[in-house]
Amino acid sequence: MCSIIGCIHNSNLDVANVLVESMGKMEYRGYDSVGLATLSDREILIKKGIGRVSHVNKELSLNELKGEIGIGHTRWATHGGVTQSNAHPHVCARSEIAVVHNGIIENYLDLKNQLKNKGMTFKSDTDTEVIPNLLSSIIIEGNDLKNAVIKTVSKLTGQYSFIAMLKDKSLVGVKNHEPLILGLGSDGYYLSSDILGFAKHVDKVIYLDDEQFVIVNPSGYTIYDFKGNLVNLIPTKISKTSENVEKGKYEHFTIKEIHEQTSTVLQSGIESLDEFDTFFNILKTSKRVYVTGSGTSYNTALVAKYLFPKITGISIEPIMSSEMKFFDDCFNEDTTLVAISQSGESTDVLNAVAFAKEKNSKILSIVNTTTSSLAKASDSFIGLNCGYEVGVAATKSFTSQITILYRLLEKFDPSQKISSQLNSVVDAISKILENQKPVIDISHALKNINNLYILGRGVHYPIAKEGALKIKELSYIHAEGFAAGELKHGPLALMDEDTYVIVINPKDDGSTYADNLSNISEIKSRGAKIIGVSDEFNQIYDYWIPLPTLPKLFYPLIETIPFQLMAYYLSIERGNDPDYPRNLAKCVTVK
Ligand code: AGP
Repeated sequence: MCSIIGCIHNSNLDVANVLVESMGKMEYRGYDSVGLATLSDREILIKKGIGRVSHVNKELSLNELKGEIGIGHTRWATHGGVTQSNAHPHVCARSEIAVVHNGIIENYLDLKNQLKNKGMTFKSDTDTEVIPNLLSSIIIEGNDLKNAVIKTVSKLTGQYSFIAMLKDKSLVGVKNHEPLILGLGSDGYYLSSDILGFAKHVDKVIYLDDEQFVIVNPSGYTIYDFKGNLVNLIPTKISKTSENVEKGKYEHFTIKEIHEQTSTVLQSGIESLDEFDTFFNILKTSKRVYVTGSGTSYNTALVAKYLFPKITGISIEPIMSSEMKFFDDCFNEDTTLVAISQSGESTDVLNAVAFAKEKNSKILSIVNTTTSSLAKASDSFIGLNCGYEVGVAATKSFTSQITILYRLLEKFDPSQKISSQLNSVVDAISKILENQKPVIDISHALKNINNLYILGRGVHYPIAKEGALKIKELSYIHAEGFAAGELKHGPLALMDEDTYVIVINPKDDGSTYADNLSNISEIKSRGAKIIGVSDEFNQIYDYWIPLPTLPKLFYPLIETIPFQLMAYYLSIERGNDPDYPRNLAKCVTVK
């Protein structure tokens, strides 16, 4: 959940500027504190502070550190509070090695005690600080760098990646179930958790595999596995679009990404046309199909549960990735697991996949980052193709995931003519985006509430859950999505004159609309206010968010847009940063 970066310049240029810019691009992975270490005249220089990169740089002039080798870090705290001393990089007690780290060292307390017994002192509460100290203590015993790294990783447990900077002008990048990429540029070598960190500077990259490490120095690099065997990995060319992630005319990435849905929906999956056939063939011959994901991607799995059975005859069982290990009896060689993920790096999702793989299940994935660990772990994957999503709240990736579900449905039943109808879906999204006033007004009216409830029936229920997730994470208002029919089984007790309830209520053939109206009456009788999200006005609503009219199959795709907008505007109304909500990170790489 943190970002780690490193750079060795082969010109004599200072790296601090490059690293500060890279950290700014990478802070979607964690943004509670930031730090930089460089090597200048055999001395390790460090600056670190609490807050976002731009803020800390302004305060401490990180970019003015001297030295042509450096490492940087943006943090999402796991062990130890958000303090300056817990911010990375961390150095060993002898000030010889600095380390930035992403992931968790599970046995750090044992290691810390062992190292303390050898006389080493610690300055932070982090698990990270054991790494430079362990490495240093093994080097002091007379091991060369390669063997010291092998011995160090043999003592660490957990899922992690780290970069160590040593005084002999080398960087060591270690990957163990957390991302790490080596970038090869004409001006030097780069290491990063994500291509985004160095896309501007490199043409080719090497994706390290798990249990591998690379030793880089100004004259070259060598890759080994954890057993010490030399590894030959072929560099791949990167697309230059990776570097163009700017806000453009928008104030925040989140609102930009919400607007991008007028094109991303049409692009969803279009670079994976052959893979749709593979998915179709595997799904139709599987005895059981499970779909997994976390957060928003899990809500997509819930949408699949509602959409698939009628059209494909396949029943779908969604399992939250973080709960997967409790379903060990479900998987075998006749089952398929479809994993859904924007990043393709969520630890819960990767662990879920590893678990099903162990049972010889087939793994299909729907993923935005096609170079991710999830894509690599899958028998076949379909790329969302929606471009980088920087905002922590998933927006365009959600609608792309759902569009891919629709495109799969068309494989099973071409008479659905899904692809040819997507243009009208996009027109409907445009109409909602052109008329944001109702959502903006309601967000203003609701800005001081403490609780918000969202109801949906059938396939609209996962959208209610997704709407609540968006509102929670961006506005910090407690929001909950319910299946409308469940109201009378408990949540009705929450209704009073201070309560606001949003009801997703498209005018359908009767499968949800009429029942929802009954629920609305029950809620209104308890004094609560109703916000109807519907293509048809009804005077029972206290507020109305209009939806364009569409064939009912497509409503989940458009009715999520008002919730994304509402979460964004509530966040602005309450003075939050919608791109970087507190306590969260874009890519959740811890259990
Ligand atoms: C949604 O807005 C989130 N920030 C979060 O729930 C996210 O969807 C979840 O962490 C899964 O991420 P992934 O799709 O990259 O695996």
